[in-house]
Amino acid sequence: MSNKTIGVLTSGGDSSGMNAAVRAVVRTGIYHGNTIFGIKRGYEGLIDGDIEELSLSSVSNIIKYGGTVLLTARCKEFFTKEGRSKAYDNLKKFGIENLIVIGGDGSFRGLHELINEFPIQGIGVPGTIDNDLYGTDYTIGFDTAVNTALEAIDKIRDTATSHSWLFIVEVMGRNSGYIGLYTGIGGGAEEILIPETDSDIEELCKKLEAGHRRGKKSSIIVVAEGDEAGNAFDIKKKIETLVDWDIRVSVLGHQQRGGSPTAFDRLLASRLGYEAVLAVMNGENDKMIGLLHNTVTLTPLEETWTRKKGIDESYIKMAEILAT
Ligand code: F6P
Repeated sequence: MSNKTIGVLTSGGDSSGMNAAVRAVVRTGIYHGNTIFGIKRGYEGLIDGDIEELSLSSVSNIIKYGGTVLLTARCKEFFTKEGRSKAYDNLKKFGIENLIVIGGDGSFRGLHELINEFPIQGIGVPGTIDNDLYGTDYTIGFDTAVNTALEAIDKIRDTATSHSWLFIVEVMGRNSGYIGLYTGIGGGAEEILIPETDSDIEELCKKLEAGHRRGKKSSIIVVAEGDEAGNAFDIKKKIETLVDWDIRVSVLGHQQRGGSPTAFDRLLASRLGYEAVLAVMNGENDKMIGLLHNTVTLTPLEETWTRKKGIDESYIKMAEILAT
């Protein structure tokens, strides 16, 4: 195994644990005699040449922080051939032959294009709260996002119960219902609306009314932002004439992205960052490092977004039974 010059960047929406992954890449890379460059603001910084060598101490005391010390961006220019060409010129300038990209599907698409067009090798590390990438059971930041949303839902439950209100709580997840499903189950939500299942609004209202008649003091509907029935305000409009409850809406939003990473996310990020460097050193290319059934796995980058991860049907059935 020859020593490599490796660039690392974080890209797309930030997720808690990205710093732990950067730290693992830097520390593992240097331990094995590689040179590590940090690229700021994702592909934007790569295009602008915002690149600096990282040392062991560059990543001291960052494991506990949310966000990303490398900063991040959603870079439109990188989706053009000209943008990628500028990026490649900078990689050449710094002698970087291998890239480790911590991000989600958009970031991986960009990396895949770059690898196809230029003599550069790359490994993806799954960093997104959405947990929507095929090839890994969990993405970095998902667990922290779920815990943040749960804390909010627990607080909302207190208020809902005190006032006898029906709350509609919207969580993030773009086109993925993972955050919705996990927070819905964990928060004891009466209803969970996610894009992976069909939402029958009339049926939902009948169940809510039955619960109300049985004496339920509060009800919570968790809706994933990407649900086909609409966002939290759309759902409110659809149900307010069908149920006899005072309804309130709470959109949790970007708080789900930040904050100190959970122990789970720190460990996941450390393992994946560490393994990403080993994969680079073993000559792996155009793949995402992930964990399936607690085993480190490499999946071709393209499959991470072309194949559907899917949701475990048994969770959905269980959630329905537990919410009655
Ligand atoms: O992909 C992470 C995510 O937080 C999604 O859950 C959400 O739909 C989107 O990013 C929000 O995008 P932005 O970062 O542009 O606000």
